[in-house]
Amino acid sequence: MKEIYLDNAATSWPKPESVIKAMNNYFHKIGGSSGRSGHRRAIEAGRIILNARSAAAGLLGVSDDSGLIFTSNATTALNTVIKGIFHSDADISSSHIVATTMEHNSVLRPVNSLKNKGLEVTLIDGDEFGQVSPEKIRSAIRENTKLVVVTHASNVCGTVNDIESIGTLCAEKSIPLLVDGAQSAGLLPINISSLSIDYFACAGHKGLLGPQGTGILYVKNKDTLYPVIAGGTGSLSDSVEQPDFMPDKFESGTPNIIGIAGLAEGCRYLLTHGVESIYKHDKKLLDIFLNELSDVSGIKLYGMKSSVNHTAVLSINIEGMDSSLVGTLLEERYGVQTRIGLHCAPLAHRTLGSFPHGTVRFSWGWANSEREIIKAAAAVKKINSISRNSK
Ligand code: ALA
Repeated sequence: MKEIYLDNAATSWPKPESVIKAMNNYFHKIGGSSGRSGHRRAIEAGRIILNARSAAAGLLGVSDDSGLIFTSNATTALNTVIKGIFHSDADISSSHIVATTMEHNSVLRPVNSLKNKGLEVTLIDGDEFGQVSPEKIRSAIRENTKLVVVTHASNVCGTVNDIESIGTLCAEKSIPLLVDGAQSAGLLPINISSLSIDYFACAGHKGLLGPQGTGILYVKNKDTLYPVIAGGTGSLSDSVEQPDFMPDKFESGTPNIIGIAGLAEGCRYLLTHGVESIYKHDKKLLDIFLNELSDVSGIKLYGMKSSVNHTAVLSINIEGMDSSLVGTLLEERYGVQTRIGLHCAPLAHRTLGSFPHGTVRFSWGWANSEREIIKAAAAVKKINSISRNSK
């Protein structure tokens, strides 16, 4: 049985061949540590990082690539901002943050740990489709609000938020905006520098097609964040003070050079093929999925009911069946690989009405075909009809 991988929101697979080649090349032919020594291997490693930064900046529409830092994943990037802003006990106990119920635990957990230390927290509910109203964010902002965090696209249902309007209203009130782009980078065209976004965090191993262990954080103004992690940067080695310039302020320790070599190729693949055309491909597959599964008795779809404001993610349930059973049958009988349960986003499931059992989540990407989506939809319909006939 041919496998059909539909778990790209967890991590994208397969990766372009050029990603694997670049990683092999680093290990076989380079192997040095960037910014640490003066020999050929170190210089070539440094060049990899430099070129990766510029490829990522080109892809994300960041005009000054020194605003981009490499992290080990989206979680680290999000924590760097949240904990870098609410750093001292005084900052924590006198301040307020606005986030949303559609956030992943990579936002909810650090925010909750700060709430336990006295931070005031407002969580804005998404609507029945999982979308967050910019107006609700506007009304939640207080005198002491220091940060607004919003996910660009939900990892549970793929619903896209209007980050342009949210950015504009945050800028009007001079409140910094952190966008969680874990489920949008490389999937939705974006030009960060043209939007009012202060921080943008994303994973390198999802839509950007790089390997696990990579992430990116865009920081508009380095002076707004305290560097929570400090250490060796290869720069200013005569001092025990953390460098205050970008990207060193937030890039301590030997970087994941092999990972960044792969991530750079993922970005180049997207630059060559165009995020717009990958978006169109993903949308076509979404339209097929929606067309096959909408209005089928016994099948419930979550999130947007059309492909507008909707990424390459579809969450469903089959009436009367646990999502884990559906996921198991999909893989065992039809080779379809999905992610079931709560997707590390418990409040998003509460918002959508799928807590505590969760959903079966399908998420596709550049390498999936129309045929695969038709097969996956047929498998869902078959499981649904067997379940209905057995009642
Ligand atoms: N956050 C990732 C997902 O939604 C891991 O699967």
